[in-house]
Amino acid sequence: MSVNLCERSYKIDIGIDLIYSQQSFSKIPVGASALVVTNNVVGPLYAAALVGALSGRYESVYCVVLPDGEQHKTWQTLNLIFDALLKNGCDRKTVLFALGGGVVGDMTGFAAACYMRGVPFVQVPTTLLAQVDSSVGGKTAINHPLGKNMIGAFYQPLLVVCDLSTLNTLPQRELSAGLAEVIKYGPIADMAFMDWLESSMDALLARDRDALAYAVRRSCEIKAWVVGQDERETGLRAILNFGHTFGHAIEAGMGYGAWLHGEGVGAGMVMAIELSHRLGLVDAAYVQRLRALVQRAGLPLHGPVLDAADNAGRYLELMRVDKKAEAGEIRFVLIDGPGRAVVRAAPDALVREVIDACCL
Ligand code: NAD
Ligand code: GLY
Repeated sequence: MSVNLCERSYKIDIGIDLIYSQQSFSKIPVGASALVVTNNVVGPLYAAALVGALSGRYESVYCVVLPDGEQHKTWQTLNLIFDALLKNGCDRKTVLFALGGGVVGDMTGFAAACYMRGVPFVQVPTTLLAQVDSSVGGKTAINHPLGKNMIGAFYQPLLVVCDLSTLNTLPQRELSAGLAEVIKYGPIADMAFMDWLESSMDALLARDRDALAYAVRRSCEIKAWVVGQDERETGLRAILNFGHTFGHAIEAGMGYGAWLHGEGVGAGMVMAIELSHRLGLVDAAYVQRLRALVQRAGLPLHGPVLDAADNAGRYLELMRVDKKAEAGEIRFVLIDGPGRAVVRAAPDALVREVIDACCL
């Protein structure tokens, strides 16, 4: 499968034990050196395998190990990548390899976009969330205390290598978080996929290999189709942010790392479908159907209370920093029919009602 973006097109390979094989990386241009960027959880599990696979192709393969966690998606951590690149004399042909979840992937991509004004990089995602979403499409970023993913760049990888065997070691909570980004593709684009998810949720939670392979493949197909039409989110691509406006507010409001990104998206999709319903765009049965799927995936149905005095006000304040906001007006990804999304504003009073109804 490919993401088709003219001269920036690239392949997404999905398979078993890919990180152990030199063959998986045989099409990437060879430079003198490669830098594997990982973290202190994923590194001990998989860095030796990837470094081994790359060693036949590069004279030097370096590795930098970042601290784990969303709270480390910062300038300070990003600098560790630049330190490693400079200390090891890496040049413009050095290829960066992001080995980890979305946090490592987003930071490595941003470092690649900036180092010497741009060096090549490869995504090697090891979480379900990263395999179905963040490794594809070239959004790279770090967080700012005032807003999620606010500092970043669009910068496409050369290749995405999704090794499904790495999902064996993923904690169950992280698997559920990844399922949030899988579920979103149904309501925004593909109701047949939503039907399939309803019948396959138990298999996915049990890590059935065929079920996971199909979920990753179909998610990547939908994402590649969207990104291929709107790389820089001038319109259509915003639908991939279904549930994210509320979700990002939860992540920032709770402090990065307290709620997993996928958990925020899970509760956020419930809030967004509720808002769609209150705007008359979908019926109550649809709301219930999505709630049931989110719950079965092991995700929260309610958002947290961010401010006991004025919870809705705090959500609204945080959501005004969202990248989709225009002139301070929040724009939501809403569902306006089966498999169809629309991006639009909603009256503050209605949004307040939804937040009051959906937070515990
Ligand atoms: P993450 O990168 O923090 O990974 C989750 C946890 O799992 C971490 O503790 C990590 O060390 C660990 N882990 C990773 N792979 C493992 C494995 N195979 N076995 C055991 N543990 C493993 O979180 P995530 O959910 O992968 O990604 C979330 C991030 O992705 C957020 O920062 C979000 O903003 C970003 N994101 C970006 C995009 C995009 O388009 N660029 C899309 C969605 C999300
Ligand atoms: N995850 C949203 C996007 O890539 O646009």
